[in-house]
Amino acid sequence: MAETEELKVSLPLLNEPAPDFEAVSTQGPIKLSDFRGKYVVLFSHPSDFTPVCTTEFGSFATATEEFEKRDVQLIGLSVDSVPSHLAWIRDIEKIFDTKVKFPVIADLDTKVSRAYGMLHPGYSATATVRSVFIIDDKGILRAMIYYPASAGRSIPEILRVIDSLKTTDESGYTTPADWKPGEPVIVPPSLNAETVEGEEESTAKGLDYKAWYLRYKK
Ligand code: BEZ
Repeated sequence: MAETEELKVSLPLLNEPAPDFEAVSTQGPIKLSDFRGKYVVLFSHPSDFTPVCTTEFGSFATATEEFEKRDVQLIGLSVDSVPSHLAWIRDIEKIFDTKVKFPVIADLDTKVSRAYGMLHPGYSATATVRSVFIIDDKGILRAMIYYPASAGRSIPEILRVIDSLKTTDESGYTTPADWKPGEPVIVPPSLNAETVEGEEESTAKGLDYKAWYLRYKK
């Protein structure tokens, strides 16, 4: 996109279908819909050969097994070219003694970046911000997180959000602040205090009662 062209910013919305795309990547052409049936983490970085991004790719690559265990497909993205991505990946693999097994999109025409609100004019009209989109197995956008260019992402936090979403999908329970798998979950409250079970009934059911709207289950 020309620097002078007006940047139209649109944001995808939570709990709506994630915008489908067809893109060129380090592993050939890819479509988001190719990955239906598994969770996808689509993440953008500002630029190849920059220090914070390099550490993030090292951490994503090192955590490959954790994503595989959860049947999650990683997809990286920036507006750099495939040859640039490949040369940078060679460096990353050397520096961190790892393998970058996931595709990285070369979004030179910014089609995907614009569909996902990855270009923020206050940052740059041509380089993507750091963003993470968690898309579920049905292609629904479930979480999105934006970061400043100066702060590298926490991969354990991204895995934690995936674990939380999958726990809620499977059980209906929600998860408290700083929750990790294996820790107590929350029984979502009924719509009003009159119909919800009180402390005695909740305790008899093995729930840890704090208030009518906050009950933990081990
Ligand atoms: C970095 O990865 O270090 C970086 C990239 C873009 C802007 C600032 C920092």
